[in-house]
Parts: sequence; C-alpha cells; structure tokens
Amino acid sequence: MNKLNFLFFSFVLVLFASCTPNVKQSDSNDPSRYVIRTEIPERPAGQKDVLGLVTPKMDTVRVGFIGLGMRGPGAVRRFTFIPGTKIVALCDLHADRVEKTQTILDNAGLPRAAAYSGSEDAWKELCQRDDIDLVYIATDWKHHAEMMIYAMEQGKHVACEVPAAMTLDEIWAIINTAEKTQKHAMQLENCVYDYFELTTLNMAQQGVFGEVLHAEGAYIHNLKEFWDSYEGDWRLQYNKEFRGDVYATHGMGPAAQIMNLHRGDKMNALVAMDTKPVNIPEYMIKERGMDRDSAYQFANGEHTMTMIRTEKEKTIHIQHDVSSPRPYSRMYQVSGTKGFANKYPKEGYALEAEMVDEDVTPDHENLSAHSYVSDEVKEALMAKYKHRIHRELEEKAKEVGGHGGMDFIMDYRLIYCLRNGLPLDMDVYDLAEWCSLGELSRISIEHNSAAVEVPDFTRGGWNKIQGFRHAFKD
Ligand SMILES: NC(=O)c1ccc[n+]([C@@H]2O[C@H](COP(=O)([O-])OP(=O)(O)OC[C@H]3O[C@@H](n4cnc5c(N)ncnc54)[C@H](O)[C@@H]3O)[C@@H](O)[C@H]2O)c1
Repeated sequence: MNKLNFLFFSFVLVLFASCTPNVKQSDSNDPSRYVIRTEIPERPAGQKDVLGLVTPKMDTVRVGFIGLGMRGPGAVRRFTFIPGTKIVALCDLHADRVEKTQTILDNAGLPRAAAYSGSEDAWKELCQRDDIDLVYIATDWKHHAEMMIYAMEQGKHVACEVPAAMTLDEIWAIINTAEKTQKHAMQLENCVYDYFELTTLNMAQQGVFGEVLHAEGAYIHNLKEFWDSYEGDWRLQYNKEFRGDVYATHGMGPAAQIMNLHRGDKMNALVAMDTKPVNIPEYMIKERGMDRDSAYQFANGEHTMTMIRTEKEKTIHIQHDVSSPRPYSRMYQVSGTKGFANKYPKEGYALEAEMVDEDVTPDHENLSAHSYVSDEVKEALMAKYKHRIHRELEEKAKEVGGHGGMDFIMDYRLIYCLRNGLPLDMDVYDLAEWCSLGELSRISIEHNSAAVEVPDFTRGGWNKIQGFRHAFKD
C-alpha cells in the first residue's frame, strides 16, 4: 500500500473506532459508513471506459503464448482445434518446454511457431512482434500484471490465467492500460463455462429462481500433491507470504455473472475471516525439513471466508481452502426467492412448483421447494435450459477436453468474440472485481474482519449495462 493510501486508511479507521455501533437497517447498506476505504485513482484525462468494448473483426486471430508449464501447453493444444486462429509464437523460461509444446503443433499438422526462451525477458520480444493480435499468458501469478500491461502497450489484446492480478495497484494499472489502449484484457476464468453453472445462469436469466438474492462459490482443493510441481515453488511461496483469498476467481466468476456485477449491481463492501494455518506448516516441517517456528510463519489461513454485500442488497459468500483433506468443491450455490441451485457434492435444484412448466415435470408433488426436485425433473430442467453456448459447442468441447470441456469453451468464446467484433464474455472490470478479493479480504482480516469497501472499478459506469449477457453474431 502506498503512503497516501495508508494515511487515508488510518483516518477512516479512527472514524470507524469512534462511531457508535447503533446502525439502523436503512443505513446498513450505505457504503460510506463504517468501512475501510482504499484509494480509487482518478481516470486519467482523455481516457474512457471499456464497458461493452468492441474491436474490429478479425478473420484470423494470431496468437502468442507465454508460460508453458503445467497449464500452458493444454491451451496451445486446444487452440489447434479452434478455427480462425494461428499459433505464431511460444515462450517459456525453459527451451525444453517450448520444444515439447512445438510437438503439439507437429502432431496437429501445423507449422512450428517462433520460439522464445532462455531469459526472464524473452517474452517482451514476443509481445513486440507485429504479426500477433492476442497474447495468451499462463505464467505464475507474479508475472501476470506486468505481462498484460506490456502486451497491451504493444498493441495486443491479452488473455491471462487466473488470478490475472494480485494487488489493487496491479488491478488499477491493468484497467488504466486497457482504457488507454482500448484493448481487450480478459481473465481466463474457465469455471463460468461449466455445464451446471452455465445452465443455472440461463435458468436465472429466464427467471426460474425468482430474484436471485445470494450466491456462493469457493476454491476448495487440497493441493498437497501439486506443491512441488510449480516452477520455482511460486505458488506455495505466494501463500506463505499473503493472507486473504488469493485464489478467489473460480468461486467469484459464476457468482458475479448471476448477480450481474457492474451490469446493474455492484459489490459495496466485504468482510473476511480466516482460520490459522496448520496443514501447510506441518507439510513444510515433514516434507521440506523446515523448523517449526519458520514453518508457522505461514501467512495464508487454512480456511478463508469472504462475505460481500451488494448495492442491490444481495450477498455473496466465497471460500478458499487449499490444504484441508476435503473433497474438491467450488460450492456454487444460488439462492433466489423462488428457487435454489446447488452444485457440490451433488448437483440439484429446489423450486417452487409454480416455477416449473408442465412440459418439464409430470410430478408436481416433488416440487414443494422443501427438498430437491427428482433426478428426472432435474435432467428435464437442464435439457430445457441448456445454454445456447452448450447447445452449439458441447460435443466439440467434450472431444477436445480441458476440465471436462469448459477450458475449450472459454478459448473458443474468446476467439469467436474477437473474430466477430463482439464484446468479450469477461471484461477488464470482471477481472478487477474477481481479483480484488485477494487484497481486500487481506485488509479485512488484518483489521479484525472490519468491513472494507469494494471499489467501483468502472469509476461510475456500473449501471450502464443492464444484465449480464453473452454476445452472439446472430
Ligand atoms: N483455470 C484453471 O483451471 C487453472 C488450472 C491450473 C493453473 N491455472 C493458472 O495457470 C497459471 C500457470 O499455472 P501452472 O500450474 O501452469 O504453473 P507452472 O509453474 O507449471 O507454469 C508456469 C510457467 O511459466 C513459466 N514462466 C515463469 N516466468 C516466466 C517468464 N519470465 N517468461 C516466460 N515464462 C515464464 C515457467 O517457466 C513455467 O513453465 C497460474 O496462474 C495458475 O493459477 C489455472
């Protein structure tokens, strides 16, 4: 945090401490009361927002990839199945990873790409090429913002793996660069394309749940088997140094879309809490021979929870846990006035009977909304509300794969929108909102779970677009 931020912060904290906690219900959503605020930098003169940004149609999208570790080569492979793309360049610190990825192109019968490796900065040469339209980044978290900003400054659109930014300073710098250059900056959040999430989004958009008031999401995934595989141990080291929800986007993405964030609603404030860390420090002691005192210097809590309240008086609950022996879960729950959806551990819907048409269910006895609808009704609902994206892409997505197909759909949609001059499914403000949980939840936790304002990253434009929608050419 810079000095100005800190002073402002302290001032608000003093106010916070001296206020009487006697808040009327009507005041409780007033974003100016009892919150810690971070600085919202003014939009530079002459710069305009990129809400609904469209850029000229492209027949072929020419792509350069940076970061070919565990995640990157899968993206290169998926692109070999997407029409209207050309894989122009590949970059990684390690030449052997570039070479191994070239074999994906060989196997697909495509020409080899230009190769960049061997230095920390080789990726800059890739960004400087004049025959690339899109830079696709799958490196560690600490490089994301720098690479996105540089690529946009070189006139490229950027797509970046999650989380695309780790601090508020990085987020504002990415927004300012996207606005200045009028380039797309998309975060590669795949979970918004999962079958259950996208079908549920469609149901919500058709009013099946009534008014959606609450959503939940999470990243609960025991990464014990993976820690040793990240290049230079970047992921464990990041968790060691930073408290808060450092990986919020898988939970946030689907929740944010169903809540229409910056498309008619916005997050006002959040509070966060975490448990002490135990399993990772114990792992460091047992597996890495670290002494107990150093191991327990670990910053990131075992379980972190963030609760968010929106302008339209709705709530979102996001969780993070990468070390407990729990089954994988992204939670994903949606609670509306007329219905409810739940993804883990078993997908299900609960609905008021009036929300289900006769063509979907023969048995209204099961629809009291006291329990889940039967499996038959659920299947019928999912068939009826299958999203257009899935209707068009499901078969190909399952063939190509990548987390069951959602990775392919994500890449396909990015290229489809670029080729057709359409707004992307996820814009730079989505990136900002979903990534902001990292630093904002840390600030809350470090101040005894005090409320922290969520900045309006659109700087006044959050209500211009009404309702989240995917764009189609026809
Ligand atoms: N969306 C998902 O489901 C999902 C799944 C896995 C990983 N991810 C994300 O993908 C990203 C990459 O994760 P990973 O598991 O592949 O990590 P990794 O450590 O396996 O790979 C990172 C790669 O980046 C390269 N790299 C680092 N600095 C570089 C530089 N200066 N120039 C060029 N290359 C550089 C490394 O050499 C390495 O090959 C992370 O952001 C992660 O969170 C997302």
